[in-house]
Amino acid sequence: MNEFLKVASDIAREAGAILRKEFDRPKTISYKGEVDIVTESDRRSEAVIVARLREHFPGHAIVAEEGGGAAAAGAKYCWHVDPLDGTTNFAHGYPCFAVSIGLAEDGEPVAGVVFNPVTEEFFSAARGEGAYLNERPIHVSSIEKLATSLVATGFPTHHRKRSANINYYWEFTLRSHGVRRDGSAALDLCSVACGRFDAFWEFRLNSWDTAAGVLLVREAGGIVTDIKGGPYSLGGPALLASNGLIHEEMRGVAEIAERANP
Ligand code: IPD
Ligand code: CA
Ligand code: CA
Repeated sequence: MNEFLKVASDIAREAGAILRKEFDRPKTISYKGEVDIVTESDRRSEAVIVARLREHFPGHAIVAEEGGGAAAAGAKYCWHVDPLDGTTNFAHGYPCFAVSIGLAEDGEPVAGVVFNPVTEEFFSAARGEGAYLNERPIHVSSIEKLATSLVATGFPTHHRKRSANINYYWEFTLRSHGVRRDGSAALDLCSVACGRFDAFWEFRLNSWDTAAGVLLVREAGGIVTDIKGGPYSLGGPALLASNGLIHEEMRGVAEIAERANP
């Protein structure tokens, strides 16, 4: 196994064990914004991940959601860390959350792991080496039409009142088997990678939400672009991931939703 992936896997399991233990305990919740929750567990998980990454890769940069990252001037490699993706679910006792750790080389994802410590599903991928769920190869679905697809989206916890995504949600709901909104972008991308969802889109995601999941989708045979079909760069304003087969159709519906925006 790729050395980066091996280290990231061990670290994600260690952080996941912390989250799993704390999931059963009463939570200490604070707020970053009106509905933007952060728990002690986010911080504990991040502290462990960042400390381990620094031990192993002192020359790499780290961007971590709760601010514990480390700059490294001119670094070729940057780790994008979400110590707890799905904090709202976690805080409410809904077992859909994960540790997400992705490595980018010159801005392009090259290794990534996403671990849900409740279901014990461990997703991993390295560029050119395929995508795996609990060490078994995974592949995107072979559904060819949006009408028979199950798709997913998410709504940001910040700028909530300004989200135009509700128009997209409406248009896609009318044209598919359904739109799921499960509260963890990293796991949503993994669900596209293993064929549970046929596509996923969301606006305003951060690099730590997507660095691992984007690679998982690509390595599982899917496509990731921006919402207009152009190149997606980490932290970009809009992401569209799919099995490839319904990508064009998704893009067309996104255009209709865009036009419906007041
Ligand atoms: C959030 C989740 C959610 C998505 C939000 C993210 P967090 O991350 O991924 O599914 O809709 O945009 O901010 O705050 O739970 O790490
Ligand atoms: Ca997140
Ligand atoms: Ca988070």
